[in-house]
Amino acid sequence: MQKIQVGVVGTGFIGPAHIEALRRLPNVEVAALCEVTPELAASKAASLGIARSYTFDDLLKQDDIQAVHICTPNFLHYAQSKAVLEAGKHCICEKPLAKELHEAEELVKLAAETGLVNAVHFNLRYYPLARQMKVMREKGELGEVYSIIGSYLQDWLFYETDYNWRLEPDKSGDSRAIADIGSHLMDVIEYITGLKTTAVMADFNTIHKTRKKPLKPVETYSGKMLQPEDYADVPITTEDHANVLLRFDNGNRGVITVSQVSAGRKNQMKLEIAGSKKTFAWNSESPSEMWIGNRDGYNEQLMRDPSLFHPEARSVVSFPGGHNEGFPDTSKQLFKEVYAAIETGKQPENPTFPTFADGYRELLICEKILESNKKQSWVEI
Ligand SMILES: NC(=O)c1ccc[n+]([C@@H]2O[C@H](COP(=O)([O-])OP(=O)(O)OC[C@H]3O[C@@H](n4cnc5c(N)ncnc54)[C@H](O)[C@@H]3O)[C@@H](O)[C@H]2O)c1
Repeated sequence: MQKIQVGVVGTGFIGPAHIEALRRLPNVEVAALCEVTPELAASKAASLGIARSYTFDDLLKQDDIQAVHICTPNFLHYAQSKAVLEAGKHCICEKPLAKELHEAEELVKLAAETGLVNAVHFNLRYYPLARQMKVMREKGELGEVYSIIGSYLQDWLFYETDYNWRLEPDKSGDSRAIADIGSHLMDVIEYITGLKTTAVMADFNTIHKTRKKPLKPVETYSGKMLQPEDYADVPITTEDHANVLLRFDNGNRGVITVSQVSAGRKNQMKLEIAGSKKTFAWNSESPSEMWIGNRDGYNEQLMRDPSLFHPEARSVVSFPGGHNEGFPDTSKQLFKEVYAAIETGKQPENPTFPTFADGYRELLICEKILESNKKQSWVEI
């Protein structure tokens, strides 16, 4: 079998997660990578066991490379995804798809013109129980959605000495917690419920108005190693914490809380979706269990086991119940669907995976949330 040859751009935290997930697919070979300098690219290629390393421009000149993954800081996503599509290659971009809404719009248009496969790495949709909740809702088991409570909490920016490029709007965008993790939460909520968010009312808080920036570069999640003398004071303008009230197109309501300063919450996305028949509750830190609430009878606990799932949800489960699947598996399942499309050479009409259009939608919601916080009032989407 001729394997699809892939290049990965950016190999900090999430790039190697893409590489690992891709290596678990039978029809894909990670053939090349690209980094911020040729030297770093060569050393990363050696440590990750990848044969070839290039500058970004040279990577795009390689005729055998059919698909490129963009795993760089946010401000590079637009220009790099655009260049990948213009080079005639399929593109898988990290979230957020771009920094500005008009850039995302342009990418959606360009991707449609080329017909190339385009995907955004909203991998949290691929927790098996997220797919199962979606299928259960589609089969009418939840009933009409009455209300939604969602949260996404982390603690890796808890201390004022915690620092990353995500704290700098020119690299990350004008929103931080909402754009970085709130986007996953909003995507999963619309994905599972099938609802569209129609209006938002947001209230942000920046806990650390000044942070201590390391005087040397640090990769994501590795800032805990530095000493006090290695820092300089910088003002912070983006949110550590956000509360957002939501209105949906069925007339009902929801609320989300997002924080990057919640001690002990390492990476916890929680959902509680109350419907007219049942309530579904799920927590990404215990991804193999889902709570089902009943008014007139015992509450239930559904374990992730393909034999207990609806057939439509089984394709994103690779192991029997009790053999836990977690964060790294979500990317594998997403890429499995993306590379099935790449095998056909073009974007499917109704893709099962998140596309550039979904990336645009999340940027739109994020922009409206930012606007609402600025105005301290409801904003329609
Ligand atoms: N879907 C998810 O669950 C998830 C999780 C983490 C990060 N992300 C997204 O992935 C992206 C990267 O985040 P990260 O945490 O890996 O960041 P990171 O800082 O750890 O890594 C970014 C990498 O990009 C490289 N880079 C910078 N400029 C480059 C250039 N011009 N060309 C090539 N490489 C370049 C850096 O050297 C670094 O290795 C972000 O957009 C983030 O939102 C998504």
